[in-house]
Amino acid sequence: MRVAAHEPAGVVHTPEATIRMDSDKNGSWQTIESHDTSLRYRADYVVGSGTHAYGFITVLDGHLFQSPVAWYRNRDAYGLAPGFENIRDPDFTRPVTADCLFCHAGAFNPIAGTENQYASVPFSHLSIGCSRCHGPTASHLENPDASNIVNPAELAPAARDSICEQCHLKGVARVPNPGLRITDFVPGQPLEQTFTVYREQPPPGTQPSFRVISQAEQLALSLCKRASGNRMWCGTCHDPHVTPPDRVAWFRSRCLQCHAGTRFPASHPARSSNCIACHMPQKEAQDGGHTVFTDHRIQRRPDYSEDSPSGDITPWREPPPQFARRNLGIALIENGMERGVPARMVQGYRMLAEVQQEFPQDSDMYAALGNVLLIGRQYDEAAQAFALAVRYDPHSSSKEASLGAALASGGERSLAEQHLEKALQLDPLNLSAASLLLNVYRDTGENDKADQLARRFNSVLQTPAAHP
Ligand code: HEC
Ligand code: HEC
Ligand code: HEC
Ligand code: HEC
Ligand code: HEC
Ligand code: HEC
Repeated sequence: MRVAAHEPAGVVHTPEATIRMDSDKNGSWQTIESHDTSLRYRADYVVGSGTHAYGFITVLDGHLFQSPVAWYRNRDAYGLAPGFENIRDPDFTRPVTADCLFCHAGAFNPIAGTENQYASVPFSHLSIGCSRCHGPTASHLENPDASNIVNPAELAPAARDSICEQCHLKGVARVPNPGLRITDFVPGQPLEQTFTVYREQPPPGTQPSFRVISQAEQLALSLCKRASGNRMWCGTCHDPHVTPPDRVAWFRSRCLQCHAGTRFPASHPARSSNCIACHMPQKEAQDGGHTVFTDHRIQRRPDYSEDSPSGDITPWREPPPQFARRNLGIALIENGMERGVPARMVQGYRMLAEVQQEFPQDSDMYAALGNVLLIGRQYDEAAQAFALAVRYDPHSSSKEASLGAALASGGERSLAEQHLEKALQLDPLNLSAASLLLNVYRDTGENDKADQLARRFNSVLQTPAAHP
């Protein structure tokens, strides 16, 4: 990440909005015009190096939000940012969570209990530093010695692979163990000590679409990886400390580490040919982040079926056995909600209900149960589950908001009001809590309170904070 500079001018049109980019001596600005209103936001930070694309972050009242536009190198122009592609009327209200920054920033200072509020200095390091791959560096800097620093290449396979997977294996859900957060991961250990990554397994006999799975998942499908097992990892071909001066020769030499003795068919090109052009071709990027460009399946002959049948959710690696069903249950619920697949939510719910007693103080588990109950319109039960989630995580604005939502849906307006107000005390810019609370105020005829809340939000959303 970097601080935004004089970013290029440009414009993006969507069916219902126009977003214009311009710069002046106070920074780079993004103006969004939609339905007769015009709002102007400063682009404060830039996400991504721009090899393929980069996106923008806006700071509003100590909160980080995503810009709906990104710069695309292949088009040399702006377009809608990853995740906004199909949004007709985009806005600047999507939170930049600690989970985003875990993969994109060096070190940052989130405020516990909020989704996207950060300290007055949001980042202590913008770019990804040594410790993200080599572990804590303090004792090494005091007394430089190979024994007090992690060398990724020399770790046991699961811990070694975890170094790159922390950022390059997004999966369909990432579930922290009870009481932990994703950001608690420390290099040197397998991810599963902290969180489990879940992926979607295609049904037997089918191939997942190349675009939707990460480099790690693709590599696992390759015969190279399957036949050489733990001998092969990301570091076999990539060295984070080296930008290959001649990429064709660099990758060829990697292939020949293992294929020097391979007997090629007579018609096969020479050993001096460009291996990756045929076996790891690049697909033209249609959109920006979170899609793979280079085919890491290393096939004999490239095959691009674009269908992506849905299958089972399975862990990339198993978590510690005592968490297996709890973590899978949460993953099923999160993924089911994201994709709108009720059967998956129900499956997750049943799984959690079975293991619930083993985790009597597990706030995240209660919140997952509450979400299914809320969607299933079991408002009283949902409120009970969220009340437990709040009890064991009393500073979470989003869980207070969920409790408020369940109570409001169940007609308990005054209790709902209390919890939604609490959610806004914990995080004054919790947008979903605010919109729920507005509805409750209007329903109960408290129009003064509603107007006051609406004014406060409008003034914050329309006044960009001071430049970092
Ligand atoms: C699991 C790690 C991970 C998470 C979580 C994640 N990203 Fe990314 N993101 C990446 C990686 C890695 C790339 C580079 C493209 C690739 O290889 O997928 C990327 C690409 C991008 C890009 C395009 C710029 C580029 O370098 O290509 C933007 C913008 C972006 N991410 C924003 C976000 C935002 C905002 C969030 C949170 C909502 C987020 N990302 C969450 C790992 C992540
Ligand atoms: C803290 C998160 C993080 C970790 C850890 C990480 N990466 Fe990345 N990596 C990224 C992001 C984000 C990008 C996208 C580049 C950008 O836009 O800044 C990226 C880009 C890359 C690229 C493309 C480089 C380019 O210029 O396009 C390669 C190759 C890569 N990473 C390999 C690895 C390998 C191998 C490891 C493990 C040794 C690793 N990464 C660990 C976050 C990470
Ligand atoms: C994206 C992950 C990543 C980041 C960030 C990173 N490294 Fe590395 N580093 C590696 C990997 C992987 C290796 C092993 C390379 C190999 O041997 O194949 C390595 C190897 C090294 C080695 C050689 C170790 C040995 O015993 O041979 C040194 C020294 C080193 N890194 C220092 C640093 C410093 C200093 C920084 C910060 C400026 C840094 N690294 C940032 C991934 C990373
Ligand atoms: C760590 C060792 C290793 C590396 C590195 C490696 N491979 Fe392989 N690859 C294998 C093994 C083992 C097989 C199984 C067949 C064999 O023994 O030749 C294989 C098989 C293949 C196949 C046949 C695939 C199929 O489905 O029939 C192709 C094509 C291939 N490799 C290309 C490459 C290319 C291109 C590179 C470099 C980008 C590469 N490999 C790097 C170990 C490796
Ligand atoms: C057999 C060699 C090989 C292995 C192993 C390998 N890569 Fe790559 N990777 C490549 C090649 C080749 C490219 C394209 C580089 C280029 O065109 O300059 C690439 C590109 C990338 C990029 C840039 C985005 C893209 O898709 O083009 C990322 C990120 C990346 N690799 C991550 C990983 C990660 C993470 C792993 C381990 C799970 C991994 N790679 C393992 C060969 C490999
Ligand atoms: C012009 C495209 C092209 C280039 C360049 C190329 N290959 Fe191939 N390769 C193929 C094709 C096509 C096949 C499948 C041949 C067949 O099925 O008869 C193949 C097969 C293979 C196999 C499987 C051999 C077997 O019979 O099991 C390996 C391994 C392999 N290539 C590695 C490499 C390496 C390493 C390089 C670079 C030195 C390379 N290839 C360069 C097209 C290419």
